[in-house]
Amino acid sequence: MFPRHTSTVKQDQSFLDQTTRRVGRNHYMTKRTFGVIGLAVMGENLALNVESRGFPIAVYNRTASKTEEFMKTRAQGKDVKAAYSLEEFVQILERPRKILVMVKAGAPVDYVIEDLKPLLEEGDMIIDGGNSLYEDTERRTKDLESTGLGFVGMGVSGGEEGALNGPSLMPGGTKAAYEELEPILTKIAAQVDDGPCVTFVGPGGAGHYVKMVHNGIEYGDMQLIAEAYDIMKNAMGLSNQELHEVFKEWNTTDELNSFLIEITADIFKYVDPDSNKHLVDLILDSAGQKGTGRWTVVSSLELGVPIPTMYAAVNARVMSSYKEERKAASQQLTGPEIKFDGDKKAFINKVRDALYCSKMCSYAQGMALIAKASAEYYNNQVSLPESARIWKGGCIIRAGFLDKIKKAFVDNPNLPNLLLAPEFKQTILDRQDAWREVLILANQVGIAVPAFSSSLDYFDSYRRADLPQNLTQAQRDYFGAHTYERVDKPRGESFHTEWAA
Ligand code: 6PG
Repeated sequence: MFPRHTSTVKQDQSFLDQTTRRVGRNHYMTKRTFGVIGLAVMGENLALNVESRGFPIAVYNRTASKTEEFMKTRAQGKDVKAAYSLEEFVQILERPRKILVMVKAGAPVDYVIEDLKPLLEEGDMIIDGGNSLYEDTERRTKDLESTGLGFVGMGVSGGEEGALNGPSLMPGGTKAAYEELEPILTKIAAQVDDGPCVTFVGPGGAGHYVKMVHNGIEYGDMQLIAEAYDIMKNAMGLSNQELHEVFKEWNTTDELNSFLIEITADIFKYVDPDSNKHLVDLILDSAGQKGTGRWTVVSSLELGVPIPTMYAAVNARVMSSYKEERKAASQQLTGPEIKFDGDKKAFINKVRDALYCSKMCSYAQGMALIAKASAEYYNNQVSLPESARIWKGGCIIRAGFLDKIKKAFVDNPNLPNLLLAPEFKQTILDRQDAWREVLILANQVGIAVPAFSSSLDYFDSYRRADLPQNLTQAQRDYFGAHTYERVDKPRGESFHTEWAA
């Protein structure tokens, strides 16, 4: 099935290939089509999703009580068979075995793989559905493929609800393993007008790479929404009820219609039953992060792709976590006392435009990063239109405008940057004045808008033929003889000057 180079995988277990197995005296059990290891909420929900599409499943969890609990509750009456050892688990799976591992990213994934490896046979496959670092996935794919097993590192987005009813799936790794899995994955994924939100992303760690960028974009989107909120609340004085209405209205627009805008509208109307206050106002302004946003930034630095909006979003979370220090500083470092006194309704529309322009820049950065990674790491096999398409449904960044992104790269596969696609270009040109006005207000009243600003900086840097790095080059040459190129000489020729002479 898959190329096999070593003999670490068990070979002769043909008795396990029967589709049924005798259990007890006269009872035959159908072999399970799909197995899930790890019954935390995402594992449980994906298992139930697979079962609900008509596939008999097997489940295993390291702590048996968790499995028992699942079997007594959510799995009750479903076509689910529990196993209480890995040996039993692999024996009740039909071949080639398809095993989804849903454990904490990092070392636990390796432990499960090491335990499973000696029990599996050539052609069997392991799917890692956690938020694993793409480099780990690369290593695991190589390792498992060299033993004749398949490995699929699969980004899964959509949270608990998505996992149960239809997530966006970003599988990469062993292509032959994906082909075996495709009939199942296409059924459990979210369904949109142009198909299920799943595709074979590419070899090695490509699936987890695209999931990582999805999360970087998610960080960017969330920070941009937070900045729009900050301006409308703290500069313009909108109440939670007004904010609810604004976001609800934005969610009906072509540009901003999205899951994150929709839940933001919901959040502003939620009243805490204990205190009778809006819950959002009671939540500590210190944001957590599990690392995928940071990984995106690290990778962009390694690949040399500017993603300032996402970097700003990661930094904003970090800065927010300095709560006590900020509280103390706020007593000493004062800002301007200016308040907004213009036409609120008109300015809200400008904030909307600023949000949309910034969002376009953020997605332009994300797509550019995927394109570079595809070229550098994945033999150009990661498709930009497909990446946008599988994000149209199920995932956290699902949004109406992803269809336009898909179309932009279908219409021009060599598009150097999303901002140059005719539709995006015209929109950003039409709205840039509003965008700049919003940033001016934020600066005047002293509200930090790092993601809005870095998006505009991205736009202003990308659209200018001349940047001030001629001076940077002169300085580098001055202090370190690093040489420079000249605009009046052919590219590639280096010059050095004895500046101090
Ligand atoms: C998804 C999400 C999910 C992620 C959370 C939390 O696509 O369903 O990206 O995978 O774990 O959003 O991420 P942070 O803790 O880093 O905010």
